Amino acid sequence: TTAYRIAVLAGDGIGPEITEVTLNVLRAIAPRFNLDFEFVPALIGGCAIDAVGEPLPAATLESCRQSDAVLLAAIGGTKWDTLPRPLRPETGLLKLRAGLGLFANLRPAKILPQLINASSLKPEVVAGVDLMVVRELTGGIYFGQPRGIFTTESGEARGVNTMAYTATEVDRIGQVAFETARKRQRKLCSVDKANVLEVSQLWRDRLTALSAEYPDVELTHLYVDNAAMQLVRSPKQFDTIVTGNLFGDILSDIAAMLTGSIGMLPSASLGASGPGVFEPVHGSAPDIAGQDKANPLAMVLSAAMMLRYGLNQPAAATAIEQATLAVLEQGYRTSDLMTEGCILVGCQAMGEQLIAQLTL
Ligand code: NAD
Ligand code: IPM
Ligand code: MN
Repeated sequence: TTAYRIAVLAGDGIGPEITEVTLNVLRAIAPRFNLDFEFVPALIGGCAIDAVGEPLPAATLESCRQSDAVLLAAIGGTKWDTLPRPLRPETGLLKLRAGLGLFANLRPAKILPQLINASSLKPEVVAGVDLMVVRELTGGIYFGQPRGIFTTESGEARGVNTMAYTATEVDRIGQVAFETARKRQRKLCSVDKANVLEVSQLWRDRLTALSAEYPDVELTHLYVDNAAMQLVRSPKQFDTIVTGNLFGDILSDIAAMLTGSIGMLPSASLGASGPGVFEPVHGSAPDIAGQDKANPLAMVLSAAMMLRYGLNQPAAATAIEQATLAVLEQGYRTSDLMTEGCILVGCQAMGEQLIAQLTL
């Protein structure tokens, strides 16, 4: 038996609902693969603000550092949107990513044949899409200095953020992207705004220089506006996409919608060493929180990514992914994916169907 300590950060909104399903799925597969999970809950986001007055308590970061991996659901909600920035739930998440050095965020968007009709795009456009967004996660405009709301000499308020990347930051995400592409279809598309931004010029130059070390990978470049358009025009042209923090945030929500729902997209956030964070791409969905309507599959598939990328248990990861496919094949859908002829289920019932599959 292999024992793992998993920090569990359920967070806000639909977070606790999808976390419960995900932990039950992990408990269900544990015996079959001789795994022994110790789930250690910790506070992050709005619930942490309410309980202890800050969005990332030191105890949470410490508990994550002591763990083999971190499973995170989602944070945020209108209740905390008017707090000063250091006290906002989102700041807690950003501090967690920075604190653990998680510069590489992998966001795979794969169209499952069962969900082709759930996409808002035509079936022939999305059929066969299988792409990976590699998003830089601890730099760029999210972290650049100076930042703030300042007062100009004329007494006017002026909001400032700074998009900045060092060559070192670009190179290390570039390496992850090339390595990722190498294990896929060996096509890497770098997305930037080099026609306008110096930071993107450096990004493009470094990626181009790096490509000499990966002659087996085909590197192309797109401007971000065109990339957004191409993602909905003909998404099948993409294999691996690498981009900065803000562009990656936006493009991965677009990629999510190709799969039918943002409730399907998992992610893995990895650093050079130490535990990774595994979390859905979506947020806390306050509009459906507490109604048993949330799609738990993005978090369940994030747990599969945890097994594959964080714990080196690929067989257990595959078992979860196959159970997900089987449940969709049987027609079970949460409301975000519902199409004619399918069986509408809530978050909990979706979890029960998954468990039934895994314990057949
Ligand atoms: P959101 O992703 O929470 O929701 C967008 C839309 O998608 C909503 O209509 C929601 O109901 C739906 N949706 C999202 N996840 C779903 C799921 N699993 N099943 C079914 N439907 C789902 O984005 P938002 O509304 O812009 O943000 C809400 C809060 O979440 C904000 O506070 C935001 O900062 C935060 N947020 C957190 C994360 C994170 O924790 N990683 C990510 C994005 C947004
Ligand atoms: C995401 C979210 C976060 C981000 C927010 C909540 C800080 O949108 O994980 O995609 O922008 O990275
Ligand atoms: Mn986002």
